[in-house]
Amino acid sequence: MPGIVAHGRTPDVFACGYCHLPNGAGRPENASLAGLPADYIVQQVADFKNGLRRSSNPKRLPMAFMIALARDVNDAELRTAAQYFASLKPKPWIRVVETKTVPRMHVDGWMMVPVASGGTELIGRRILETPENLEQTELRNDASGFVAYVPVGSIDKGRLLGTTGASGKTTACATCHGTDLKGVGNIPSIAGRSPSYVVRQLYDLRSGDRAGAAAQPMHPIVAALTVEDMISIAAYTASLAP
Ligand code: HEC
Ligand code: HEC
Repeated sequence: MPGIVAHGRTPDVFACGYCHLPNGAGRPENASLAGLPADYIVQQVADFKNGLRRSSNPKRLPMAFMIALARDVNDAELRTAAQYFASLKPKPWIRVVETKTVPRMHVDGWMMVPVASGGTELIGRRILETPENLEQTELRNDASGFVAYVPVGSIDKGRLLGTTGASGKTTACATCHGTDLKGVGNIPSIAGRSPSYVVRQLYDLRSGDRAGAAAQPMHPIVAALTVEDMISIAAYTASLAP
C-alpha cells in the first residue's frame, strides 16, 4: 500500500485508506474505489477540486473533507493512489436484504447504526445501510462488510428500470456501463457498490451538483427519475456481484 493511501501527508492530506479503506471497499458515507479505472479516479478528484462535483447538501461533512483533500493532494500522490486502487479486485461487501421492517437506527459516525435501546420500525421508502459488526467496522477490519436494508420489491423494480429503461424514462444502464455493469473503459462499474452512494450520485447528477464534462452523458439518464426510482435502481445494482 503506498504511503499516501496508508498514512497520507502530514498535516494536509488524510490517508485515502482511512475513509476508503485499504481494500478500497469504502463505507456508505464515502465510495468504493477498488477496481475503478485509474484515469477515472484522477478525473473525479480533479472535478472535486474544480467545483464540478459537490454535494446537493452543502453541509455534508464527508464531502467537504473529500473536496478539501482534492485541493491539497499533489498530482504524483494522486496518480500513485489511483493506480493502487485501480489494481485492487472488488469483492462482495454489501448484503442486500429486502424487508418491511428494520432495526431502529440513528446516525453515528456518518453511518446508520442500530439504537442501543433496540426495537424495529417500518422501512418506508428508505435504504438503511449499516455495518454487519460496528466494532469491526470502526477498527477498519477489511473482512467485515455491510448490510443494506431495502424496500420489498425494490430490486425487481430497479432491474426493470435499469435493464429496459422503462419506455424512455431512462436508458438501459448496460448501454454504457457494460453487460454486467462492471464498467467499460473509463466508465465506472456500478455493480455491487454501496446503494447509499449510488442514490447520492443519481441525486447529485440530477440536481446538477455533479457536473463534470465526463458526467454529461448521465444527465439525460437521471432527468426523469424520482427518488423512489433511484432507491430501486440502487437496490438492484447493489445486489449484483461487484
Ligand atoms: C475524510 C475522508 C476521505 C478521504 C481521506 C479520502 N476520501 Fe475520497 N471520498 C470521500 C467521500 C465522502 C466521497 C464520496 C462523495 C460522494 O458521496 O459523492 C469520496 C469519493 C471519492 C472518489 C469518487 C469515487 C467515484 O466512484 O466516483 C474518488 C475517486 C476519491 N474519493 C478518491 C480519493 C483519493 C485518491 C484519496 C486519497 C488521496 C481520498 N479519496 C481520500 C472521502 C474521503
Ligand atoms: C449514455 C451512457 C450512459 C448510460 C446509458 C448510463 N450511464 Fe451511468 N455513467 C456514464 C458515465 C460516462 C459516467 C461517468 C461520469 C463521470 O465521469 O463523472 C457514469 C456514472 C454513473 C454513476 C456514478 C458512478 C460513480 O462511481 O460515482 C452512476 C451511479 C451511474 N452512472 C448509474 C447509471 C445507471 C443506474 C444507469 C441506468 C439507469 C446508467 N448509469 C446509465 C454513462 C452512462
